[in-house]
Amino acid sequence: MRVKLTTGKEIPLEMYKVRIVQKTSLPPSEARLRAIEEAGYNTFLLRSRDVFLDMLTDSGTNAMSDQQLASMMVSDDAYAGGESFYRLSDAVRDVLGFTYTVPAHQGRAAEHLLAKILVKKGDVVPMNYHFTTTKAHYELAGGTVLELYGPDALETDSRNPFKGNMDIGRLQAAIDKYGAERISFVRMEATTNLIGGQPFSMANLKEVRALTSKHGIAVVLDGSLISENAHFISKREVGYERVSVANIVKEMMAQADILYLSGRKSTCVRGGLIATNERKYYDLLKAWLPVYEGFLTYGGMSSKEIEAMAVGLREMVDPDVASSSADLIQYFVESMVARGIPAVTPPGGLAGHVDAKRFLPHVPQLQYPAGALAAAIYLVSGARPMERGTVSMDRDANGNDVPSDLELARLAVPRRVYSMAHMDYVVDRLAWLLEHRELVRGLRFIEEPPVLRFFTGRMVALEGWGSALAKAFQADFGMEC
Ligand code: F0G
Repeated sequence: MRVKLTTGKEIPLEMYKVRIVQKTSLPPSEARLRAIEEAGYNTFLLRSRDVFLDMLTDSGTNAMSDQQLASMMVSDDAYAGGESFYRLSDAVRDVLGFTYTVPAHQGRAAEHLLAKILVKKGDVVPMNYHFTTTKAHYELAGGTVLELYGPDALETDSRNPFKGNMDIGRLQAAIDKYGAERISFVRMEATTNLIGGQPFSMANLKEVRALTSKHGIAVVLDGSLISENAHFISKREVGYERVSVANIVKEMMAQADILYLSGRKSTCVRGGLIATNERKYYDLLKAWLPVYEGFLTYGGMSSKEIEAMAVGLREMVDPDVASSSADLIQYFVESMVARGIPAVTPPGGLAGHVDAKRFLPHVPQLQYPAGALAAAIYLVSGARPMERGTVSMDRDANGNDVPSDLELARLAVPRRVYSMAHMDYVVDRLAWLLEHRELVRGLRFIEEPPVLRFFTGRMVALEGWGSALAKAFQADFGMEC
């Protein structure tokens, strides 16, 4: 919840109290330099012990509620027909309005199953924007992703409240070009991850629904961050000011044929699911679920996580829960902008994002500015960001780099984990880095897997800039921090 203080300043007020904590520590800059070099300048390859604030992702790192933890104690471990599954299924029906629930071990497993049953070789899959694992699965199935975002989706400095909207004119053109039979389905991603956690509007989703219905094309909603998107609709869309997050979520679901999600985000657990009201999709999924995930009533998830997911689904539509990380992200982004840091605006869900093209204009795109910025941020703060730029794009069939639309260093804000003081600290170190940005140069791959290379690829800092940056930092801050 955001409240205005008597000074006029607005702050994100936490609507929870902290009862369990995990110790963290800030390794000094010399240790951070060693750690990032060992990690091949890839923040995925850092060890937790070398990280102060883990802002890599909100995936599986949100704080669970006391009710979620309590529910785990009464889970039913039956291999088949476990009561935990039926409690999840009830929550899916009550909160999302779907009859059939297909559990999966996480979001990409749901994507794999959907690719298996719906994406044929030669198909196209229109979407508002791709996600890394989504694109990988649909391409491995022989499909091509079409990104049909609107005109300012890729503007990092913007006031457009719904940069996640699909361009309806481009969707019509794609239907005209490929015909409905070559379109597997249209995918809409809630708070579109790779363009900075930007939401779509209800009006846009309804336009997508209306057009696809005319042509008999299914709508698949990636609802990994569904409650955040609903929160933004309640705050930003005319006509929804007085509609509850719960009812907004229901209205969104009514536009979709299939919902899938990574349960690691909005529902604060480790798992995933697919839900639908259509028997034909359920029957197709049912055939493959035991092959790839597990029996119908656990699908690769532990029964404890299934119980906690049932609770998490019900809790996520509480406005205090749906807004908790979005409000802190807004504070974080506004603080960055106030210090001249080129953050993606307007603030979205999941993270504060820094535009590396504007932060490091001297680093050419094929020397991976977002990767360099993510490593540099870790080096000067101990906060661990994630690269979301060209490193996150795999090479094309000819072995060439595919320049990403955006070069972002993403600083995720997991729910109920970090404080305003943590945000102030990160913003301060970012401001110092901005003043010393000319010290940061590009990166070069020395080890590069062919698919999803960002996870495990290793790089080196061109001209050894890591050591130069650490030296400048130590000159200003000493050896202790
Ligand atoms: N869809 C979206 C929109 C996601 O953000 C993610 C994961 C997935 C699908 C895949 O789900 O990880 O459970 O297999 N996003 C994480 C992130 C990894 O850090 O943004 P998963």
